[in-house]
Amino acid sequence: MAELATVTVLVNGREESLVLDTRTSLLDLLREHLGLTGAKKGCDHGQCGACTVLIDGLRANACLALAVAHDGAEIVTIEGLADADSPHPLQAAFIEHDAFQCGYCTPGQICSAVGMLGEVEAGWPSYVTEPGAAEPGLDASEIRERMSGNICRCGAYPNIVAAIEEVSR
Ligand code: FES
Ligand code: FES
Repeated sequence: MAELATVTVLVNGREESLVLDTRTSLLDLLREHLGLTGAKKGCDHGQCGACTVLIDGLRANACLALAVAHDGAEIVTIEGLADADSPHPLQAAFIEHDAFQCGYCTPGQICSAVGMLGEVEAGWPSYVTEPGAAEPGLDASEIRERMSGNICRCGAYPNIVAAIEEVSR
């Protein structure tokens, strides 16, 4: 018999309390229980990044996160990024640079880029950051490395990098 638990999360500024099977992933909480279908289920195995959301300000694969493990967390999805009538700067840059084709990976790419820019601002180095660098810069190779967990089957990578580069400037 399924084990049930009450999970309360703040999703895009709105408190949600749900009684869930303890095996429910955060991705299923968002998509199946709250109807927020922006985060996509690409692989459901932590391999594609299509499900990326922000958990307490940090990017994470929602398909690998158990909802019960994030009771009390603050979640931001692609639906929560825009500010009233104006898109988030990354959303605007993706449109400007034509950084998608089918768009399936795009919510995850954008949420991941938001988290990634925060990591750079906090001074977190990546695998390709020059050892000993005072602070990591954000050239194209840094962006490619830092965004490598987000797969785009349409191959829109050059435009994704250009969009993120513009916002980082
Ligand atoms: S659906 Fe989560 S990483 Fe692919
Ligand atoms: S735009 Fe189609 S998967 Fe990235």
